[in-house]
Amino acid sequence: MLAVYADQINPDDPLRGLQVGEVPDPTPQDGWTTVTVRAAALNHHDLWSLRGVGLSADALPMILGCDAAGIDGDGNEVVVHAVISSDSWRGDETLDPRRSLLSERHPGALAQRVAVPRRNLLPKPAELSFAHAACLPTAWLTAYRMLFTRGQATPGMTVLVQGAGGGVATALIMLGAAAGIRVWVTSRSEAKRTEALKLGADQAFESGTRLPERVDLVMETVGKATWAHSVRSLKPGGTLVVSGATSGDAPPAELTRVFFLQLSVVGSTMGTRDELERLIRFCLERDIQPPIHATLPLADAREGFQALLEGDVVGKIVFTP
Ligand SMILES: NC(=O)c1ccc[n+]([C@@H]2O[C@H](COP(=O)([O-])OP(=O)(O)OC[C@H]3O[C@@H](n4cnc5c(N)ncnc54)[C@H](OP(=O)(O)O)[C@@H]3O)[C@@H](O)[C@H]2O)c1
Repeated sequence: MLAVYADQINPDDPLRGLQVGEVPDPTPQDGWTTVTVRAAALNHHDLWSLRGVGLSADALPMILGCDAAGIDGDGNEVVVHAVISSDSWRGDETLDPRRSLLSERHPGALAQRVAVPRRNLLPKPAELSFAHAACLPTAWLTAYRMLFTRGQATPGMTVLVQGAGGGVATALIMLGAAAGIRVWVTSRSEAKRTEALKLGADQAFESGTRLPERVDLVMETVGKATWAHSVRSLKPGGTLVVSGATSGDAPPAELTRVFFLQLSVVGSTMGTRDELERLIRFCLERDIQPPIHATLPLADAREGFQALLEGDVVGKIVFTP
């Protein structure tokens, strides 16, 4: 089958190890099934894998990709939950120390077929296209958990989203706006700020700009480049939820401000199957469709990886096998 895979790790030049070509079909283990992929979405995670973050050289070659929607062995339209927990784990699978994401220990979703545990399949509602459904399991699920579970956002709050154009950031804007939250965003790019306003942001600011007032919550995925601004933008008692560090993970901690203003810094990672189910329902009820920057044939995946690497993307890049 055709697949997108990593055959070498290169921290400085991630696309060097990117291959698109024929590989053997996946073999499902006991309790697993094979999904014929109809759409698969690209995430920053796939670039991290090529850089060797979360993917070790001894696991190569490895099919990349966490996100897929397709048809299961019984002909059902399904969305694939990307968090693979250990068989014995019960409860919130994001807390399982032995969990992995598709493409870290098991072959990923950027392929014509992907093997997954049966418990990781959710029904895909007919109203949701395969392409839109494939956007949800990583970036959108992460945004849902950051905002509602870890951030406890409620209507009327003001939330700052750093780095407006990213997959997680665009999801935060649309989910927040649909839930009655005032969403402020920052971006380095004027075009992305304009796009963020169209997606539902209330105001968009150039990265690092002093805000008109302090906010209740900050959603952070950019890391080093925006961390100080995130901490300084919070009201006393406010909460910063962090799920990524695209620009680097060693900013000054701003400890004095954290303790003096009694700020909470909360980590968040992916989400549970139940949260994915609620996210899908919320998208249907509010008629939310994840913005898709480009849809490309799987054979042209390199083009999508290049665009994500250059950062000139608003929303998701989707591949159709
Ligand atoms: N913990 C988890 O479970 C989880 C899940 C999903 C994602 N993540 C992480 O979250 C991060 C975002 O993921 P994504 O898929 O949304 O990535 P993405 O689509 O590539 O978005 C990255 C965004 O970060 C901003 N950015 C990048 N470099 C920057 C810099 N030097 N200065 C300022 N802003 C910068 C950009 O914002 P502007 O260009 O608009 O300024 C861009 O929109 C990644 O690091 C990813 O690994 C973690």
